[in-house]
Amino acid sequence: MTDLLLLPGDGIGPEVTAQVRRVAQALTPDLTLDERPFGGASYDLHGTPLTDEALAAARASRAVLMGAVGGPKWVDAPRDRRPEAGLLALRAGMGVFANLRPALCFQPLADASSLKREVVEGLDFMIVRELTGGIYFGSPRFIEDLPGGGQRAVDTQVYTTAEIERVARVAFELARGRRNKVTSAEKSNVMDSGLLWRRVVTALHQREYADVELEHILADNAAMQIVKNPKQFDVMVTDNLFGDILSDISAQLTGSLGMLPSAALGLAGTPGLYEPIHGSAPDIAGQGVANPLAAILSFEMALRWSLGRAAEADRLYAAVERALENGARTRDLGGALSTVEMGDAVLTEL
Ligand code: IPM
Ligand code: MG
Repeated sequence: MTDLLLLPGDGIGPEVTAQVRRVAQALTPDLTLDERPFGGASYDLHGTPLTDEALAAARASRAVLMGAVGGPKWVDAPRDRRPEAGLLALRAGMGVFANLRPALCFQPLADASSLKREVVEGLDFMIVRELTGGIYFGSPRFIEDLPGGGQRAVDTQVYTTAEIERVARVAFELARGRRNKVTSAEKSNVMDSGLLWRRVVTALHQREYADVELEHILADNAAMQIVKNPKQFDVMVTDNLFGDILSDISAQLTGSLGMLPSAALGLAGTPGLYEPIHGSAPDIAGQGVANPLAAILSFEMALRWSLGRAAEADRLYAAVERALENGARTRDLGGALSTVEMGDAVLTEL
């Protein structure tokens, strides 16, 4: 069984995962690594963004680390074979329904945020995004021609009790190991799925997690509160689409999208999927200037959550912190280091 399967993908994906490979080889040389083309890179080779073989390899690994998918080259690919469709199929195929997206501000980067230092300094909260349901996967979905001209497009937002409950459970469990507070974000004021979401989270809370503080918030208000006073949050659980949006907002609080990792987890004993939150960044792809820290920190999460190597994860986290303290900055952080030089900086601290 492979320990870590790398799916470099597209755009800056291959550049940042190359740094993960270097870090893994230095920090945990005993881990076995493997690699598959994914996303647009796989589409170009095999006509599909995720081959059956790559999915099987992912499911047979202990952890999967994805770089990034998509780019202008594939915008006209058939919709079900777009690179993004491969990512959704990977998430669904691995059953990783709970997406942990930390928003934490590294001390030396408090001034890199577009928000005031006092708002973000010391920030540390976690978004738990539902990842395999909701409007991303609901059917029907289609675009149809209307008789009188024009078209009509339909997407379906759908959630079951079981889907809501299992992701909420992850949030409550996480909160118990942190500051013991869960904020559940939905739009129960306008959406039936939001109403069910609120009811299910409330019932689970009363039944099993009454010791954890629970607060409900409307998703639009959550967006506002995240930029107004993000330190009020500990764990925020929300659906797939709101989680996509709210996690981009939170990422910016921390200075750069290039800093934040994520972990997508399924049932106990199944492999986790680790991804930097940043996308493929086609505008800087191939220039060697992308920040590899989000990918390196995604590896840190893999060590912690899937590979049972918490001690090495701690060492890696500390090395990243020290590299930043010592002034290591890629362009997104206002510096001039290349991708490889930032990898060097972390390796030096290790
Ligand atoms: C993310 C990305 C993906 C998503 C895209 C690339 C399909 O934005 O991981 O946040 O929407 O989930
Ligand atoms: Mg996103």
